[in-house]
Amino acid sequence: MNTLIISGASKGIGLATAKAFADTGYRVINLSRHPAEDDRIENHAVDLLQPNASDKLDEIFKRQLTAGPLTLVHNAAKLINDSIDTSTPGDLREILELNVVAPQLLNSKLLPYMHPGSAIIYVGSTLSEKAVANSFSYVTSKHAIVGMMKATCQDLSGKQIHTACVCPGFTDTEMLREHVGHQQEVLTDIASASTFGRLIDPSEIAETIMFAARSPVINGAVMHCNLGQKES
Ligand SMILES: NC(=O)c1ccc[n+]([C@@H]2O[C@H](COP(=O)([O-])OP(=O)(O)OC[C@H]3O[C@@H](n4cnc5c(N)ncnc54)[C@H](OP(=O)(O)O)[C@@H]3O)[C@@H](O)[C@H]2O)c1
Repeated sequence: MNTLIISGASKGIGLATAKAFADTGYRVINLSRHPAEDDRIENHAVDLLQPNASDKLDEIFKRQLTAGPLTLVHNAAKLINDSIDTSTPGDLREILELNVVAPQLLNSKLLPYMHPGSAIIYVGSTLSEKAVANSFSYVTSKHAIVGMMKATCQDLSGKQIHTACVCPGFTDTEMLREHVGHQQEVLTDIASASTFGRLIDPSEIAETIMFAARSPVINGAVMHCNLGQKES
């Protein structure tokens, strides 16, 4: 049976992705602090920001995994509203720890289990290749993820494991709603900035992640999925 290991599938894009893979018969293993509410998903409570995360992951993978073709999706991330003049080294460290270091922690532990046919999909953002004001640490981390994905492609050359960075635009999840302070008028404004005049549904990103994971020809690629953003 094909296996998906995904971080942050308790809600949002991660949950939609876990469900989409479960729908097609994958075994799905979720790593997040809270469980995904779906009986088909195997939940393991891990806080990727805690120092004990490394030992916990060792224990989970030793007990739960055998080597084979695995799909690893690096989805868990955190967004804070900060800027160059307010960001503290502590803020930046915490965002980089979850958004950048945790994916490499998972890579290092899972690569020994990954046979040819495996895939490593990074979830980036429109902000992986452009910046906006007031998302300083997040923008920095999402640019770093593109570099990590490109390095993954080069370092795994010959192993028949492919990688891509799927970059969502404004998607209707708790992360986005919290970011705008749950203000409906701001969400409406954001939606109108897409050429389709709406927010993205998490299931649309899930489908793109699955397509990337099943397409080895997409290797080292940055895939933007944002409904087309209007340029001012
Ligand atoms: N929504 C958007 O508009 C948008 C746009 C571009 C890119 N993205 C990217 O898409 C991905 C998913 O975002 P989303 O909008 O679905 O976010 P979300 O609704 O806030 O979900 C984030 C997930 O990350 C997990 N997580 C957070 N902190 C964690 C920790 N310390 N340890 C383990 N897991 C943790 C959360 O699980 P627990 O709380 O249960 O731990 C949750 O399942 C992220 O990489 C994000 O940067 C989102």
